[in-house]
Amino acid sequence: VCCQKVSEAEVFARGGIKDVLVSNQVRDPAKIDRLARMPKLGARTLCCVDDIDNVADLSAAAEKHGTEIECLVEIDCGAGRCGVTTTPAVVEIAKAIDAAPGLKFSGIQAYQGAMQHLDSYSDRKAKLDVAVAMVQDAVDALKAEGLECDIVGGGGTGSYYFESNSGVYNELQCGSYAFMDADYGRILDEDGNRIDQGEWENALFILTSVMSHAKPDKAIVDAGLKAQSVDSGLPIVFGRKDVEYVKCSDEHGVVMDPDGVLKINDKLKLVPGHCDPTCNVHDWYVGVRNGKVETVWPVSARGRAY
Ligand SMILES: Cc1ncc(COP(=O)(O)O)c(C=O)c1O
Repeated sequence: VCCQKVSEAEVFARGGIKDVLVSNQVRDPAKIDRLARMPKLGARTLCCVDDIDNVADLSAAAEKHGTEIECLVEIDCGAGRCGVTTTPAVVEIAKAIDAAPGLKFSGIQAYQGAMQHLDSYSDRKAKLDVAVAMVQDAVDALKAEGLECDIVGGGGTGSYYFESNSGVYNELQCGSYAFMDADYGRILDEDGNRIDQGEWENALFILTSVMSHAKPDKAIVDAGLKAQSVDSGLPIVFGRKDVEYVKCSDEHGVVMDPDGVLKINDKLKLVPGHCDPTCNVHDWYVGVRNGKVETVWPVSARGRAY
């Protein structure tokens, strides 16, 4: 399992997952200490490194707890956030990891996050081609130094077909495909179809209720900002062309209802704009099959401060 925060990784390890990658940098001493204790929960523990100064701190914590942390050197292959940008920097950090007690050099992390949501398949491919060339160069340079990459990881819902056919990546870490959301749904596959109309289906919904219809063409529903993240756009009303969610405030959603078809307490299924941070504001997933609630799952790996 791949996650982004130490506190999320701990939830997975406690839940019995035996192999957990924090696909992120861990720098705060308290967080490093918690990461170094994770193998005691029975989980192979991995994190990313993009700064040689991080190596000694991770190593000291692993030695203190008598554990091993596996490290991937992170390459910024276009996302513009964490990660080094040159092959010599990758090699320098990898060598330091390899020499550090308590650490194991396990490979490369290279997630191209910036291109995932580009509409066009060929635009996404062009960005990933650049990423693959960077990663291949680093893998070759490491090999020349006697450092093999067990893991070359990356890939998201908008790109996994490129990484999997690259011949260089060997681990994928896609996440959003499982739920889909409104922002991902609009991107196009190789044949020009929306990816939520065939490749994937929507599985995550916010069930919202009409609470006011004081104006004839406007229904107000009870899912606003406290129920969802709108950083990637507003939700879509699932299965409805006659009504449209047009505005979101703290506790209100404005739904245009030009024909006045909605009634008080009518329920609408919203497909959130961005699934990841939407899940994080909820305590439970309610699992529904054929219109019946089958299960409830707590949303427990929510990594806020830690
Ligand atoms: C490092 C990393 N890997 C994988 C993913 C999953 O990608 P997606 O949700 O696009 O499938 C993310 C998403 O935020 C990420 O940050």
